[in-house]
Amino acid sequence: MPAIYLDNAATSFPKPPAVAEAMVRYLTEVGASINRGVYASAQDAGMTTLLLREGLCRLFHHGDPTHCVLTAGNTMGLNMVLRGALRPGDHCLVSAMEHNAVMRPLRELADQGVAFDRIPCDSAGRLDPASIPPLLRPNTRLVVIAHGSNVSGAVQDGAAVGRICRERGVPLVLDAAQTAGHWDIDFTGWGLSALSVPGHKGLMGPSGIGALLLEPDFARTLAPIVTGGTGSASDSERQPAYMPDRFESGTPNLPGIYGLQAAVDFILETGVDALRRHETELTARFLEGLRDLPRVRLAGPRELENRAGVISLDFMDQDNAEVSFRLEQDYGILTRCGLHCAPSAHKTLGTFPQGTVRFSPGWYSTAADVDAALAAVRALA
Ligand code: ALA
Repeated sequence: MPAIYLDNAATSFPKPPAVAEAMVRYLTEVGASINRGVYASAQDAGMTTLLLREGLCRLFHHGDPTHCVLTAGNTMGLNMVLRGALRPGDHCLVSAMEHNAVMRPLRELADQGVAFDRIPCDSAGRLDPASIPPLLRPNTRLVVIAHGSNVSGAVQDGAAVGRICRERGVPLVLDAAQTAGHWDIDFTGWGLSALSVPGHKGLMGPSGIGALLLEPDFARTLAPIVTGGTGSASDSERQPAYMPDRFESGTPNLPGIYGLQAAVDFILETGVDALRRHETELTARFLEGLRDLPRVRLAGPRELENRAGVISLDFMDQDNAEVSFRLEQDYGILTRCGLHCAPSAHKTLGTFPQGTVRFSPGWYSTAADVDAALAAVRALA
């Protein structure tokens, strides 16, 4: 029985062939670090790293590649912002749909005197931007929003939230774990202060690498949480203040850089619009097929507007983990069950503690994959 991979919200698979090819080329033909040598292979590594920063800036409408910091992944990027910005006495607003990549560092910071509040979301995970202003305090230092929910697929209005934050002078941090690569994200137009993205989900690169795009004034206020060798200003035992070195210590993940650079090229060539259209078509097919299905509750919006391709189902009178197991055993369909590292989101959706079975098609998923999933859901329900 061939496997049908419907867990792209966890990590996209397969990847464009150019990703593995670029990583193999790095490991077999280049092998050099950046900022630490002037020989040809080191120049190749330096140029590929620059091309990656430029590609990410083009994709996310950010004008300055020096402020595209390469991270060890989205969790690291979010930790860099939260821990780098928040101090005892500060207040932070988060949406009620946040992942533990935000909630766990924030809970730790709360133990040290940082206060936070959740912006309420409806039972499909949608946030009303108008609910933000009354929650802002004079000491609100950050607003942090998951752009797309990894549980319900609801996508928040980044432009509207950005406008509100900008008018009130509060930095907005967008976690684009579930939207980067297949949704248009306008860093400059939305007035973001920080945008954190993983390389391995919608960007279709390898895991272990991501990016944190920063607005220059905000970057200056952020303390690095890791310091060390940068290959620059080596006469000093102090971390350089300039970008991106201020936030990039240690030899970087170069196989990851080569892989992600090829992936971003693929995205730019294919076009975000085409990727989004495919996602919407498969989501529409899935949602249509779920209509009139008793004993299965969709935890997320029924409408396609502002909705990503994450379809979470609660098989009400069954154990969702057992359903996910049966989907693999009997139908070869790969899903993720449980709480998806997002207990706050499940509480908002009313699916805590039972969780859901999550189906997430990707760029290489087909209509036939969705039909097979629907047939299996119908049989199991
Ligand atoms: N946060 C990722 C997921 O939702 C890993 O599966």
